[in-house]
Amino acid sequence: MGILGPIKPIVQAADAPAGSRLKPTLSWPHLIALGVGAIVGTGIYTLTGVGAERAGPAVILAFAIAGAVCACAALAYAELATMIPTAGSAYTYTYSVVGETLAWMVGWSLILEYSLACSTVAVGWSGYLVGWLQSAGVSLPEMLLAGPHAGGIINLPAVIVSLAIAGMLMAGTRESATLNIILVIIKLAALTAFIALAAPAFDADNLTPFMPYGFGSTVQDGSTRGVMAAAAIVFFAFYGFDAVATSAEEARNPGRDLTIGIIGSMAVCTIIYMAVALSAIGAMSYLDLGNSPEPLALVLRTLGHPTASYLVALAALIALPSVILVMMYGQSRVFFVMARDGLLPPVLSRVSAKTGAPVLVTGITGVFVAAVAGFFRLDEIAELANAGTLLAFIAVGGCLMVLRKRAPELKRVFRCPQPYLVGTLAILGCLYLMISLPSQTLVRFALWNVAGLTFYFLYSRSRSQALQDQTAAGA
Ligand code: ALA
Repeated sequence: MGILGPIKPIVQAADAPAGSRLKPTLSWPHLIALGVGAIVGTGIYTLTGVGAERAGPAVILAFAIAGAVCACAALAYAELATMIPTAGSAYTYTYSVVGETLAWMVGWSLILEYSLACSTVAVGWSGYLVGWLQSAGVSLPEMLLAGPHAGGIINLPAVIVSLAIAGMLMAGTRESATLNIILVIIKLAALTAFIALAAPAFDADNLTPFMPYGFGSTVQDGSTRGVMAAAAIVFFAFYGFDAVATSAEEARNPGRDLTIGIIGSMAVCTIIYMAVALSAIGAMSYLDLGNSPEPLALVLRTLGHPTASYLVALAALIALPSVILVMMYGQSRVFFVMARDGLLPPVLSRVSAKTGAPVLVTGITGVFVAAVAGFFRLDEIAELANAGTLLAFIAVGGCLMVLRKRAPELKRVFRCPQPYLVGTLAILGCLYLMISLPSQTLVRFALWNVAGLTFYFLYSRSRSQALQDQTAAGA
């Protein structure tokens, strides 16, 4: 065993006994709905404002760049997810391709992706709740609406929504396909209504200067600005498509349906995001948009559409919690697999006999998500979530190429087109986005990894199931 730790054998879908294979019932419209359902959330509803503050009107370009990078990562994901369709996604691929140490780092990064994405969406939800209540004449004490980093004591609505979703998952709740379709319709209807009402107020003057802070990420007036700085944060708006990739086993015609499902949901989201961003930026100066915790509602109120503003906020309030549900579910599964592999305490892989849900690990995740949501600012949480996700995407791009070289004979249900080009673009794109994040985020990310590796070398490495299996096989 080298420094990279033991490698787990690849378990392909075809290796699973017939009884434990999932039924292929999904076709591409379902997959697009699944993707859009998991992707559209706080990223477009709230981070459009933060992106505008960082890039000015060129936030539109930032969405296009982040979308293109994510499309490459999504294609790589799809090939691996169809080859190795076990829970744990990027963590499991890295374990089977590179080795345990790096897999641990990827798993540790996925904690940031899933948990902090939940916290980010919870804070975004809170912003819309506060604005929505205010427009109905209800004001809550300000100290309870933001954490200490944003001038308050605690963001109570964000804490409550996080704990409520954790409670639902602990009780065994799953989002049904029908509910997902309803929520997708609500989210898309709200964004379409937004575009329809904001676009007529388009004023080309609002688009100049187009790139007031330039392209590259630089520090100006104490904050990180530029198109790439904005791309590094609005990148948040695109992930969640792993939901499509991980349902690979259930696709009726994976080769065709997954390509359409993944590229389709990515394309739908990128086009809608750019249209929403363009309508928002054209209707209002980016300087006013940047400070708002509920930018889309603000634009509509400013344009004199109070009812529409109220309804768009209501759509966000109804639909955003489902993004938390999907992400928190993903998190509990990653913890679950890491514990089953022996890298985290086994108690975390215990499931409730009654609901079949991993209750303890979901409870711990809920408390962690709520604590972060309660005390930190939306942009700082989203940036750290992005750092973790970017590392996972880099690993996925790498695994795609290594496996094509090392195991060309393995059955691939879905073949990524131009794998070396797509893999390289995914890695380089993610690296560029990563270095465009504020230096403070990168320092936090480094500290997170140091803590993770310390835990790994002190606890996990000697308890690894893969190591024990290898030792037993060698004995
Ligand atoms: N892409 C998801 C969102 O924007 C995480 O909320």
